[in-house]
Amino acid sequence: MIKLETDRLILRPLGTKDFDTYYSYTSVPENMTYMIFGPYTPEEAMRFLKMCETWWQEDPPPIYEFAVILKETGKMIGNSGIYMDDERRLTGMLGWCFHRDYWNKGYATESVQALLKFGFEELKLHRIHAECNADNIGSARVMEKVGMRREGHFIKNRFDRVGDKKMWYDEFFYGILREEYLAAKEK
Ligand SMILES: CC(C)(COP(=O)(O)OP(=O)(O)OC[C@H]1O[C@@H](n2cnc3c(N)ncnc32)[C@H](O)[C@@H]1OP(=O)(O)O)[C@@H](O)C(=O)NCCC(=O)NCCS
Repeated sequence: MIKLETDRLILRPLGTKDFDTYYSYTSVPENMTYMIFGPYTPEEAMRFLKMCETWWQEDPPPIYEFAVILKETGKMIGNSGIYMDDERRLTGMLGWCFHRDYWNKGYATESVQALLKFGFEELKLHRIHAECNADNIGSARVMEKVGMRREGHFIKNRFDRVGDKKMWYDEFFYGILREEYLAAKEK
């Protein structure tokens, strides 16, 4: 089983046994304002967790979706993953969602640092990228803190749900190259 470890966190495969915690935050509107999916019904949450298990069973997985566990308590506080862009496995996209009780404590940043290390050092990716609603200040800040570069601000780029409304909204695109990650690590 793949396990990533940081000072305060353990990232291990997300699956159906995590339903109670996963549903406890993915069902809450405030937690899902800027997520493309959700708020989830129990059925939708379970469907996603089953998909995660299917991805983990593939060799190699096309998507690595991790449960983020706080070492201090052993409790799951969110999920974070890395998605291969295609079967060539040269580039990948990051995603994350944390329980609102644990925001602004640096946990997302710490998880994303672990994912970058995994993506570049284990999966040997060339580039890792992620996108967010331009109003999602917390997500943009996480990407900046881990050394990703804002490469684009796309105006009214996506028509989707934001909170309880569907609308056109701006998106930030962030990216980092393997060579940049390695150079920053040397410093
Ligand atoms: C976005 C999210 C992952 C951030 O997680 P987190 O664990 O709180 O992130 P961190 O604590 O590592 O860093 C958050 C940073 O954003 C800043 N921040 C958060 N909200 C902010 C706001 N409204 N205004 C200014 N700064 C803000 C924090 O101060 C912190 O920066 P700092 O360390 O320089 O002070 C979390 O809020 C979340 O899960 N949100 C719901 C799901 C979601 O939107 N997912 C992303 C979809 S792209």
